[in-house]
Amino acid sequence: MRIDSTSEIETNMTEVTQKDPLVLFMPSGKRGRFPVGTPILDAARSLGVYVESVCGGRATCGRCQVSVQEGNFAKHKIVSSNEHISPVGPKEQRYASVRELPDGRRLSCSAQILGDLVIDVPQDTVINAQVVRKAATDRAIERNAAVQMCYVEVDEPDMHKPLGDLDRLKAVLEKDWGWKDLLIAPHLIPQVQGILRKGNWAVTAAIHRDMDSSRPFIVGLSPGLKNEAYGVACDIGSTTIAMHLVSLLSGRIVASSGASNPQIRFGEDLMSRVSYVMMNPDGREAMTKAVREAVNGLIGKVCAEGGVDRHDILDMVVVGNPIMHHLFLGIDPTELGQAPFALAVSGALQYWAHEVDIEVNRGARLYMLPCIAGHVGADAAGATLSEGPHRQDKMMLLVDVGTNAEIVLGNRQRVVAASSPTGPAFEGAEISSGQRAAPGAIERVRIDPETLEPRFRVIGVDKWSDEEGFAEAAAATGVTGICGSAIIEVVAEMYLTGIISQDGVVDGAMAARSRRVISNGRTFSYLLHDGEPRITVTQNDIRAIQLAKAALYAGIKLLMEKQGVEHVDTIRFAGAFGSFIDPKYAMVLGLIPDCDLTEVKAVGNAAGTGALMALLNRGHRREIEETVRKIEKIETALESKFQEHFVNAMAMPNKVDAFPKLAEVVSLPERKVLTDDGSEGGGRRRRRSRE
Ligand code: FES
Repeated sequence: MRIDSTSEIETNMTEVTQKDPLVLFMPSGKRGRFPVGTPILDAARSLGVYVESVCGGRATCGRCQVSVQEGNFAKHKIVSSNEHISPVGPKEQRYASVRELPDGRRLSCSAQILGDLVIDVPQDTVINAQVVRKAATDRAIERNAAVQMCYVEVDEPDMHKPLGDLDRLKAVLEKDWGWKDLLIAPHLIPQVQGILRKGNWAVTAAIHRDMDSSRPFIVGLSPGLKNEAYGVACDIGSTTIAMHLVSLLSGRIVASSGASNPQIRFGEDLMSRVSYVMMNPDGREAMTKAVREAVNGLIGKVCAEGGVDRHDILDMVVVGNPIMHHLFLGIDPTELGQAPFALAVSGALQYWAHEVDIEVNRGARLYMLPCIAGHVGADAAGATLSEGPHRQDKMMLLVDVGTNAEIVLGNRQRVVAASSPTGPAFEGAEISSGQRAAPGAIERVRIDPETLEPRFRVIGVDKWSDEEGFAEAAAATGVTGICGSAIIEVVAEMYLTGIISQDGVVDGAMAARSRRVISNGRTFSYLLHDGEPRITVTQNDIRAIQLAKAALYAGIKLLMEKQGVEHVDTIRFAGAFGSFIDPKYAMVLGLIPDCDLTEVKAVGNAAGTGALMALLNRGHRREIEETVRKIEKIETALESKFQEHFVNAMAMPNKVDAFPKLAEVVSLPERKVLTDDGSEGGGRRRRRSRE
């Protein structure tokens, strides 16, 4: 039965008439009419609304909780009231006396429909709230996990019916829960008899229903009522591995943590890791081992934080860029290091977790999201799933900036994707005073347009550098260098204050105005911090930033051309870098195209959020598999116009593209043409970049 979220479903449970109560489930919006006396859980099931249940309606697990939304819902023509649900009966009373039942919550297996109702199915997982600094729109992930826990009471053996213990277990799982053609993980077969007897013939089976085979699998078996199951969503980044531990039954995030990717010791960036594999016969194996150990270590950490036994983890979803994806799975990434950047496998993959050395429950499964292209990986697929360009009408640009920027652009009609070789400049490498974001690193910069004096903030200190008490506050961390967000800001501020020209040349004439502009012989630098260490922004630093931002913008521009659009409606910055850069400065520099600034949002680790969505709802797995199949991949290196876009994008914000929306909020400087040595050449043209 196809469920339309807006239309009313005529259920065929029994004779249903227009007089029967109308029940609307939120947040899914599915609704239908049901005879008086129908348990809410049955109504939800018949509409395909996922409500958890472990005990099979015995009112012992407490997993089926719902609440009634009271009020007049005119749009739906429903007046919903607690009077329209059966009073709390003995089963619920018994549950509430043994375990806690929060105010207003009802057990949907016991509560029956008496009249029209709006029923709220609580979704404990609200995404975005914790992954971004400013929560945009919090949304709930509707649960429909791949693992379902099913409590059953198995018939005891009978000499007259010589059916095996496992077969009787399967029979009751079919009778009580409707599971047909069940398979069982082989390691459980020798344990079945012992577990059944230990549980006095009552057991909880963990059923996985998202295997390569369409048949459901018994992946876990516990004596008695096992009222919990956990899953792990993991994003393997080249620098950091991030993980969420989540209850598959409630959707609650139990713990989240991160760790450095130990592969860094084999090479800082992706390409140096590919080279390491090419140069060392055991290189691939060593890096696979290192990342798997790190994932296992992180599982131990989140389990300790959440007070969870790692053997209660039954499902896992992993995302990563193509090289991390391949190395984690033990695949040689050499082909990804050279054109045509062939992936060994691009589709979604399913494993037993133990097959990739992950130490969790022996029956745990592992799902890898599909990769989009040779340099646009399962992490970009995760970010796409999280932000959903394919789910909306607006033209959305989704950018994950790393040493290799992954770019996705699209809407409901069409989605295109590419990667662009931005290099490590945005992460502080290739910059004379650059460093990773860490205490002591300058993260914010402002330059006074009159005096050209800077003020800045460093990570770990609340005060700005020109505020009283800054020196004392910064004594512990020191001022050690510039991190990515500040590199963007300082170059943008230098442009806005006229220290550099639109072409990125430091204006030597400014040396007469400010001691901050200093000569290095043929070129000039800007002195940002006159202390120990001395922090300057050199002409070379600016060039490195220009090259990186031009590569990113040129990639974006190619995708815009493919889509036939001149502007984008909304921009999402994914990844750690995106969380800390100020969208205004990113636009002043021309990293991203012109757009209403209120439409530019940082979304934190969107790849990890996508993994979480796929973990909690297997529908999202099908959604991203289908979306990725349809995404059109653009290979920037093969596009003849890339070079032209790149050259234009070297200017700030851009030589040819206008930034009218940005110009409404920022006064962009007049165009000034300087030769490479910082002297005026070609004269001044009174042309504003908005024109
Ligand atoms: Fe277990 Fe309702 S299904 S308490």
